[in-house]
Amino acid sequence: MSNVHPYVGRSQPRVDGALKVTGQAKYAAEFTADDLAYAAAVPSAIAKGRIAKLDLTAAKAAPGVIEILSHENRPETPKDDKPYLNDMVAVPGSPFRPFRDDRIAFSGQPIALVVADTHEHARDAAALVIAEYETETPVVDVAAVRNEAYDPPEKRNGIPPPPEPRGDAAATFAGSQIRLEQDYRVSPEHHNPMELQATTVIWEGDGALTVHNKTQGVMNPKNYVCAVFGLDPEKVQFFSPFVGGSFGMALRPHYDVFLAVMASLKLERSVRVVLTRQQMYTMGWRPDVLQTVALSANGEGKLTSIQHHAIQATSQFEDYQEPTVNWSGLIYDCANVSLKYELAKVDTSTPSDMRAPGATLGVYALECAMDELAYATGVDPVELRLRNYAEKDANDDKPFSSKELRAAYEQGAERFGWSKRSPEPRSMKEGRELVGYGMATGCWEAMMQAHSARVTLSADGRLEVACATADIGTGTYTILAQIGADAMGMDIEDVVARVGDSTLPMAPVEGGSWAAASAGSAVQVACKALKEELLKHARGIDASPLANAGLDLVTFENGRITLDSDPKMSVSYVDAVRASGRGEVEAEGDFAPDEKFTEAYAAYTHSAVFAEVRVDEELGVVRVQRIVSAIAAGKILNLATARSQILGGVVMGVGMALHEATEWDKSLGRIMNANLGEYHIPSHADIRDIDVIFVKEDDEANPLGVKGLGEIGVVGAAAAVANAVFHATGKRIRELPITIDKLL
Ligand code: MOS
Repeated sequence: MSNVHPYVGRSQPRVDGALKVTGQAKYAAEFTADDLAYAAAVPSAIAKGRIAKLDLTAAKAAPGVIEILSHENRPETPKDDKPYLNDMVAVPGSPFRPFRDDRIAFSGQPIALVVADTHEHARDAAALVIAEYETETPVVDVAAVRNEAYDPPEKRNGIPPPPEPRGDAAATFAGSQIRLEQDYRVSPEHHNPMELQATTVIWEGDGALTVHNKTQGVMNPKNYVCAVFGLDPEKVQFFSPFVGGSFGMALRPHYDVFLAVMASLKLERSVRVVLTRQQMYTMGWRPDVLQTVALSANGEGKLTSIQHHAIQATSQFEDYQEPTVNWSGLIYDCANVSLKYELAKVDTSTPSDMRAPGATLGVYALECAMDELAYATGVDPVELRLRNYAEKDANDDKPFSSKELRAAYEQGAERFGWSKRSPEPRSMKEGRELVGYGMATGCWEAMMQAHSARVTLSADGRLEVACATADIGTGTYTILAQIGADAMGMDIEDVVARVGDSTLPMAPVEGGSWAAASAGSAVQVACKALKEELLKHARGIDASPLANAGLDLVTFENGRITLDSDPKMSVSYVDAVRASGRGEVEAEGDFAPDEKFTEAYAAYTHSAVFAEVRVDEELGVVRVQRIVSAIAAGKILNLATARSQILGGVVMGVGMALHEATEWDKSLGRIMNANLGEYHIPSHADIRDIDVIFVKEDDEANPLGVKGLGEIGVVGAAAAVANAVFHATGKRIRELPITIDKLL
């Protein structure tokens, strides 16, 4: 073995890459059993009202049909008369309960489940279910109910409400030299991951279930299902080793898992439910939000007041909340700040977290307003941000644990060539295209959660690192293997990482960009305990060369525990395992955020995003020529997977700026483009150069110095593009996406 440490900080190829590209990685809908039945959910054709009649005659007579479940014959659950357990990331309100009664709360709501002998038979029979409805008029446009906006009656766990106002923003605004007030709107979005939401329940007999469910954290649907159906947690295990993209969609359990478990228990056999692409639009979504930002400044561009008001859509049955406006109180230094966040109910499914929930929307509005302020004051957009640089988190009145945003502005601007920008809109042109340079700031929380991990060294000299967290494509497998390999001084080829398995040590959902810092730290803690165990066994060997050695006197490297004072004195890991008298030695580690530290400091990641667009004025076509995203996010564990995270976030930002929009028919309340043909996400031809810079940033929030990267890449990206479009064209489009019709 060669000395290749540290793995952490390098560009390490994905340890699960080969499994994925060779098709060996199995996803929730790919697990099977001899007695597997296939189920298809029947979607409601109305958005609001009740089911007057279900005619199942034709469906029941269709080939291969085994059972049809609906509100009319749904098996009772122990929770029928009680509120359901709120899942780990639930929001206030009453979670959607499939088949509870005849009420329809949103378009596409499942009204029946057809179970058949094949997937095709189930789909075919599902299409034969005839429903008659009593229809009520739905409202799906948040603007139509803005007068009914209300303060969230109950705070969502983990989501800070807007900070108290400081100073007097309204009066300062009125008396300020330069002021602007604008409304911003972003079209609702859906996550659109590649992998469909799916559950395969394997009936193990005697009430035991093995559940393969697409989820961002196996413990969450496991706890939910056990509570709802009254199942013994010892007999129900959840697995989700691979997730084909999620972006927040699979944080909460969806109706696929409820229906699959219900059918499996009823039929006492294995059942699979796979949602259709259309049904992927019947769950969480990035909520519609009306935003107004008012900024005032003095002649030098120093902010004198910030006011940010958001009215965000939620469903009739839950008060979904995001920290949308909070960012406006912490990104810039300003003495007079007033932030307001309200909800308004529409007849849709409950919105959900979608990559950087709240920040993606709120920072977009703030950063476009800042761009407008740059023109109003004649101050360069980067310089404007430097003049208003926040040295502390004024929302919580705390210093930042670290903040290298200045370096991000500097290095991003340098790499991008910002100095070549001529400030006037429409002043840069190449050929027939207008050229625009725009930039924006991004910000996201650096969160941590309690996690546990187990590490096991076996007699063949291999290390397993295991935690019930998920890898949703982010690279969790790889960074956990890197951390384990470094901690134990081993070759990464000899390390196997395991996640997505509810029998493994506890982890919450993988979300909020907290997994790397938290699960990674837990692995580190576990490895320290493993070293102690191994050394204990090594000391116990007859005439052990390490007889009196303590942990601080030895080095673990290249498969050997070696005395620092005499390198000839060593014991191999394998011999230490053998000396234990067992086939393997294992240790567990628990990580919890250091409360003193998190009390004392505000921890955030930051970015400076620079975009160049080309606009063909005759055609209205916008092309994003290049983007430079400079990220300050603490220690980077793996340059390759980290860069991929930022690339993905930036692409999503481009989608938000130019392409993505879920279009509801406002009179019927139904989504008109619930498919990837008409819901436009950026394709390869839409994306050219994306350059990612990781700014050096030292942070002590955890021993790894990691802040997390899954979400910061998307924040600010859409604003940078929108600002570049203004610079190119002189047209300020305050409604995303900026489609051709808005520019012509
Ligand atoms: Mo993220 S929206 O917490 O998966």
